[in-house]
Amino acid sequence: MQQESKTEQLRAIRDEVWNLTDSSLYKYRKQNNYYPVLGDGSHDAKIMFIGEAPGEKEALSGRPFCGAAGKMLDTLLESIGLLRADVYITNIVKDRPQDNRDPIPEEIALYAPFLNRQIEIIRPRVIATLGRYSMKYIFEHLGLASALKPISVLHGASFEGKTAYGAVTLIPLYHPAVALYNGSMRGTLKNDFKIIKKILVSITNNNHTLK
Ligand code: URA
Repeated sequence: MQQESKTEQLRAIRDEVWNLTDSSLYKYRKQNNYYPVLGDGSHDAKIMFIGEAPGEKEALSGRPFCGAAGKMLDTLLESIGLLRADVYITNIVKDRPQDNRDPIPEEIALYAPFLNRQIEIIRPRVIATLGRYSMKYIFEHLGLASALKPISVLHGASFEGKTAYGAVTLIPLYHPAVALYNGSMRGTLKNDFKIIKKILVSITNNNHTLK
């Protein structure tokens, strides 16, 4: 049997989330004519960014990071020469929590298996988490629970995690929304993005030497 393409596999996830009546956020989605937000970008991206959950703009459009935090993310990507089309951006929780509250553990547990499948389909070499919720979940998921510390300590550092398809470099970052209210965080995020750039360049160079 021919293997399903990445797009087909990702569409299957979209359809399952679309019909996720078990979620406590499903009714809220329907009442507000919101969309679930699955992800956006290249299905062959070397780097995947993982945020927390969609806000209102995202839920109305079905696209991740399309509000103010998304603009900040675009600026940070541009600062290292990347476009959205070069990367893949998603969240742990695929539906908007009421009134922009933080995701609760039950929601993370319900939606995380979809994120795990997205990771296995896209197979990024680098995962950058945005904010402490995705940081905590991904550290645990990639076998790095014992390395967990507050985001103020871990941001911008790199770790090697395990996936079914091999090793992945994990870089925890602050959520870009923090830079909207705190100017010095903008500088911190910009510096941390330079580390991403270095790691992506070294991956590309290693691929060339292997050929
Ligand atoms: N914040 C997130 O964590 N994700 C989005 O998609 C938008 C804002």
